[in-house]
Order: sequence, then C-alpha cells, then structure tokens
Amino acid sequence: MDERDLEKYIPIETFTGETTEVNSTRNKLYVETYGCQMNFADTEIVNGIMGKNGYDITENIDDSAIILINTCSIREMAEARVLQRLTEIKKYKKKNPKLVVGIIGCMAERMKRDLITKKGVVDLVLGPDEYRKLPSLIDNLIDTGEKGIAVKLSRVETYDDIMPIRKEGISAWLSVMRGCDKFCSFCVVPYTRGRERSRPLEGVINEIKILEQEGFKDITLLGQNVNSYRSGEFDFSDLLAACAKAVPGVRIRFTTSHPQDLSMKLIETIAAYDNICKYIHLPVQSGSDRVLELMKRSYTIEHYMKIMNNIRKLIPEVSLSTDIISGFCTETEEDHKMTLDIMREVKYDGAYMFKYSPREKTKAWQYEDDVDEETKTRRLMEIVELQRNISEDKNSALTGNIFEIVIEGISKKSDKMLFGRTDGNKTVIIPVNGAKAGDKLKVRITRGNSATLFGEAVTVN
Ligand code: SAH
Ligand code: SF4
Ligand code: F3S
Repeated sequence: MDERDLEKYIPIETFTGETTEVNSTRNKLYVETYGCQMNFADTEIVNGIMGKNGYDITENIDDSAIILINTCSIREMAEARVLQRLTEIKKYKKKNPKLVVGIIGCMAERMKRDLITKKGVVDLVLGPDEYRKLPSLIDNLIDTGEKGIAVKLSRVETYDDIMPIRKEGISAWLSVMRGCDKFCSFCVVPYTRGRERSRPLEGVINEIKILEQEGFKDITLLGQNVNSYRSGEFDFSDLLAACAKAVPGVRIRFTTSHPQDLSMKLIETIAAYDNICKYIHLPVQSGSDRVLELMKRSYTIEHYMKIMNNIRKLIPEVSLSTDIISGFCTETEEDHKMTLDIMREVKYDGAYMFKYSPREKTKAWQYEDDVDEETKTRRLMEIVELQRNISEDKNSALTGNIFEIVIEGISKKSDKMLFGRTDGNKTVIIPVNGAKAGDKLKVRITRGNSATLFGEAVTVN
C-alpha cells in the first residue's frame, strides 16, 4: 500500500456516539505498557500530559480511576496478549463500573472503532499522535458518558514541548523522532505510527540537560530509524555529538538504525566521544539477498557487511546486536542457512529473534505466508540456539577483562548482588560492595554465560 492510501484509514470524527457511565473523579491514572521502547517513552509523555492536567499517576491498578493500555501491533501475539488482558480488565470494570478504560498506541491506531464496538469494556481509543486530546476526551466521557476515539496521524506532532514524567532511575528513554517512512514489507509501524518527523535539536538538548540534572546516567535516544533524523541542517550524527557534548558525564545510546543509511560520519561520531556507547543495534532481518529484497529492506548482505567492517575497523571494541525474522514468505532452507551464516560471520553480541507474523495492510500481507508453522518454529529455534552459543563464547572470552559499569541497582535474583551495565550494553553482576545506583565502577569479569557477565569491583571512583 502506498502511503497516500493511509489517509483513507483516518476517520475524522472524535466522539463515537456510544455512551457509558463512568467515575466522576478525574485523578488516579494507571498506564500499562506493551511493545517497544518508543511505547514506553510515549507512556511517559502521556503521564506528562495527564500530570499537567491535574491527574495523579499511580502504579497500582486497584487504586486507579482510569486505566490506559498502551499497545503494540508488531506481531499477532503482541495483540493477542492485550486482548487477553482486556478480559481481565473486564473484571475490574465489573467491580467498579465507573472505571474508565482506554486503549492507546499502535493497536488503537490499527483497530480504531472496532475496539469500542467489539470490546464493550473499552471507553476510549487514542492513536500515538493524539495524546494531547486525552484530557478533553476523558472530561467529555465523564461529563456526558460519550465514548471517545481519536486516531488521526500527524505529520508534525513530536510532543517536543511535553516534559515526560519518568520513574526515577539511572536510565532514561528520550524520543528524538517519530514514525517511519521505510515501509519494510512485513512491518505495520508505518501504518500505526505514521510519517517520519524529527524533534528540533534544541528541544532534545534541553531535555537531555534536564535529565542529567535529575540524576540519569544512561540515556537512549529513540526513533524507529534514527538515521533519518533531520533538524534544519543537522543530521543524526550532529544530534548525537551535540548530546555527547551537552552532558559529558552521561552515557548516550541510541536505537534503532537502519543499515541502508548508517553513514561513515555516524560511525566516526560514535568513535570520537567517550560518552557515546560503543554499542550498535543494526537489524539484518535475513541473511539472504532474495529475502531482503522481498522484505523491501533496500540493502544487500554485501552492503550490510561493508558497514559492519567499517564499524569494527573504527570501533574495535564495539558490541553489536540485531533483529532476525524467521520464516518470511518464500524463505527456503537455503535462505535460512544464509541467515545462520551471517550470524556466524558477524558474531553478534545479542539478537532479538522472531517468527514472521503477517500483518494486515502491509505489502507482505498480499504474499502467501507459505512457510508452515512447524518449519518457522524449528528455524527460529536454530537461530536462537546459534545465538546462545555465540553469546556464551563471546561472554566467557571476556573473563579477566576490565570494564567500567554504571550500577543500576540490586540484582533481581539476589539481594547480595548488584547489577550494572557496560558501555556495550552487557549486564554485569557483582557482589554488594557499598556502591549505589548511579555509581561508576571498574570491574574485572570472572565468568560469563550467554546472557550475563559476573565480576568483582576493581576500584570505586
Ligand atoms: N525500526 C526498527 C524495528 C522496529 S520493529 C528497525 O527497522 O530496526 C522491531 C523488530 O520486529 C523488527 O526489526 C523485526 O525484526 C520485527 N518485526 C517487525 N514486523 C514483524 C512481523 N510482521 N513479524 C515478525 N517480526 C516482525
Ligand atoms: Fe518497520 Fe522497517 Fe520502519 Fe523498522 S524501518 S519500523 S522494520 S518499516
Ligand atoms: Fe509495537 Fe508500535 Fe513499537 S507496533 S514495536 S509499539 S511502534
């Protein structure tokens, strides 16, 4: 589908005409979030908008007058999980019929009015570019009982002026752009998030300075395809460099890059600044040029490997991760083996691996989903197993090495252990030693498995 066809899916009305009786208190908002980091960052924006309008944010669902579910549509499973969750939320609504229930985010954008007509429990539906309307739709709902829907996509909305409300902590997300114009044939994001648009550079710099003052030590710049960032004459490398200079004591990461336009300038920028993490997530999706073409990924494996080699030349210590889809339409055993080959060649530090899930409206929806479920699962298991072995080999080979980590807190598995992250995004577990969240610590690695490194402190800064 061409992007112009998107307009057809944008209904203009805001109120649905359907009614309900809801709670008359306007505070106590609870938001539950699914999906990618962009969605988690959006929840903080929603909290920012609602906080400004006098709502209290609660993390206790039992305590809330308004429940919003920020949803993801990337694979069928992601949607199924939310639909299942809605049946549980029905019980809350039964106990408290005046509870307001809203679906926001990508599923809201994709399913629109269906969520209200087919799921009786839903009172509000808001797409990712409509969050400013939340307070007025809630007011209207409370005053008139009218259910609300707002799912127009914007070409300009970046919520640049909204200060997100974040949980206190060490790491923060910071959205620098929204939407995606790549239209990979398997992907629903261009339809749920709309057109690509960037925040002004000054807005990002102002926010990152505030985050530094608030004590955040590790900040990830977010966008579906950060390489397309543009603010006047500035590109993403300029933004990254400006952030690195603005907050020299804070680690800076970013995600996600698309291999088509990852420039030499970006690699040089990452290499040039100590506080830009030497970690790049560069989704390859498949090792077969034929499949990549069907996926409309617009690069070949040769081009991808050229970028990888340039990265490793300029940043020898770099950590690399990827996304892989198994069982895309027409994928043969030979294509699958090429995916395993590229994994062996690059030796990623980590990978996010998925079975192909057909999504309505995408280009690939028109292709035949011809790899049977059993084959998809078996290929995915082979990919997962191979990555586990590679990660284990790489992590255990780090034994004896010294890394600087930023402590994030007490380990979830034992209160006698702390955990932190390396610049390369690896989790390190060390014995409790008086260090606290936010401290930088030099650690010597004592062992590693496929998921985690274990170590001991060398010096406390
Ligand atoms: N913008 C990011 C990806 C966002 S979606 C990028 O281009 O890198 C995250 C990952 O989900 C994708 O990289 C892809 O591997 C996976 N994915 C997207 N659509 C999918 C689908 N229909 N089925 C299975 N996996 C999918
Ligand atoms: Fe989806 Fe491709 Fe855009 Fe990533 S770049 S969000 S995979 S369309
Ligand atoms: Fe999911 Fe939307 Fe993110 S579809 S992956 S929440 S952009």
